[in-house]
Amino acid sequence: MKFDYSAGFIVYKMVKEKAMFLFLIKQDGTYDVPKGIIEKGESAEDAATRETREEANVSVEKIPFFKRKGRFSFYKRKERHLKELTLFLGRFKRGPVKISYEHKGYKWMAYGEAMEKIGYKDLKEALDSANDYIGKKAEIDKINEDYSGLPKRAKKWNLSRTFVQGIGPVNSRTVFLGQAPGAEEDAQKIPFVGRSGKLLDSLLRRSGIRRDCIYITSVVQFFPPRNRIPSRKEIVLCMPFLLRQLKAINPKYIVFLGNVSASAFFNGHKAVAHHGKVITKDGVTYMFTLHPAAVLRFKKFEVIMLSDLKKFSNIMRNSADL
Ligand code: URA
Repeated sequence: MKFDYSAGFIVYKMVKEKAMFLFLIKQDGTYDVPKGIIEKGESAEDAATRETREEANVSVEKIPFFKRKGRFSFYKRKERHLKELTLFLGRFKRGPVKISYEHKGYKWMAYGEAMEKIGYKDLKEALDSANDYIGKKAEIDKINEDYSGLPKRAKKWNLSRTFVQGIGPVNSRTVFLGQAPGAEEDAQKIPFVGRSGKLLDSLLRRSGIRRDCIYITSVVQFFPPRNRIPSRKEIVLCMPFLLRQLKAINPKYIVFLGNVSASAFFNGHKAVAHHGKVITKDGVTYMFTLHPAAVLRFKKFEVIMLSDLKKFSNIMRNSADL
């Protein structure tokens, strides 16, 4: 058996707010995306970028976090091949589209037409997921633009004016929810990059949860100066934006890191008293654990948080969501 590792891009451009996808037409008339074998020493992303340039003369802006991996087998000259294909999502940056000798044409197609024309099942699933991702990302970008303008519109504003948007795949099944960004997050405009974030990374790794598979954000997405706990009023002001973000992402699991996020959704719930607890309500499973900042303060909490995360990791894995 021969093993092939290939990578490519699902390339799209927005035309009147509608995503149009680029397909190359093979000599046998089937439709495919630019893709090819990953050469020795190349990363999957490098290979996808090179193939897209070579096969279509196109450069793209890679959409972070979107990645589809599929495995399938086929016979070529009586030999069985196992192919692993990694597809990324890329927004068309530069062309013009020029096809190589390998193809006889190309076509930009909207989602509906492409789903009718594509023959490969895996490619159909990848396109479906890409189309969903583009829609969710556009929705999240719109909410974040609105949210980031809140300091200007609010009568009184005692938080930082720097908006720290969530990070991770917008189609993730799992959202981790903290309290509010700290000073380092405020400076870098990225959640959980300070000491708490580094500890969270390590706890996730040790519990088998991949950070690039989860979406991480906080109840309040502006830094409360001197690292104070956001006030009730601030939480109430910010909550509608978080609820809109969650509606767009539509996660199956929400993990509360600490009291602020737990009590924003379940009144009276406390991180220490209810850690490890799991509640399923309206199709969403909520999990309670400590905030990594509490673990930094009290070392003895580390085993507790790690065991909670391992428990959640098992729940997610058992339902094939990890
Ligand atoms: N702590 C939080 O609760 N949120 C962040 O974004 C960073 C640290």
